[in-house]
Amino acid sequence: MTANARCCINPSILSADFVNLQAELDRISTADAVHVDVMDNHFVPNLTIGLPVVERIAQVSPVPLDVHLMIADVDRWAPSYADAGVHSVTFHVEASNAPIKLARELRARGSKAGMALRPATPVEPYLDMLDELDMLLIMTVEPGFGGQSFLDVTLPKIRRARAAIEGSGASVAIQVDGGITAETITRAAEAGASIFVAGSAVYGAADPAQAIEALRAKGQLALG
Ligand code: DX5
Ligand code: ZN
Repeated sequence: MTANARCCINPSILSADFVNLQAELDRISTADAVHVDVMDNHFVPNLTIGLPVVERIAQVSPVPLDVHLMIADVDRWAPSYADAGVHSVTFHVEASNAPIKLARELRARGSKAGMALRPATPVEPYLDMLDELDMLLIMTVEPGFGGQSFLDVTLPKIRRARAAIEGSGASVAIQVDGGITAETITRAAEAGASIFVAGSAVYGAADPAQAIEALRAKGQLALG
């Protein structure tokens, strides 16, 4: 269904050693981007890093930054992340009062615009705004923690989103995040995702570069 799409593997530093971030970034230099999970302990029941740390990561990272904001009041805070020179900023639609305005603002500041949906958030209300987005993140676990199991219940939503994107002619990549392993990546790719976030499957491996290659091979095989 996603014929000829390129498979991207974005390791999540949520599963990295936060005391040695520079070394941890260097271990994934063959990745397509680094997925940076920002959590505020309000939108999700966990707390990670904020803007100053993301700005510093952007300065030293060997790969582009894919910032995933799991924060409340995101209309107010997301634009500053785009200003940090990152590749993409993804906000949760459940946390935004004005997602179209926000997506436009992110693009105007030079970042790709991503919009995320929790597992139980339907995609249908947002199909008219696909042109405003570069990426749709369909969460495949409840956001907040790494190491959870992939929710197969999200697969039909990925398929419907992919069909709607192809029907609209918009150029929007589908990203999946949560529980992506060498086993689940095939199902997610067959459903229509092409950008895969993997935290524990990469940083939990003895050789992260090898884990990235193995995931990429499986994902690309399923994408055709
Ligand atoms: C969860 C985060 C994910 C997480 C994925 O809320 O958004 O990016 O790090 O971790 P794994 O791959 O271990 O499920
Ligand atoms: Zn994430």
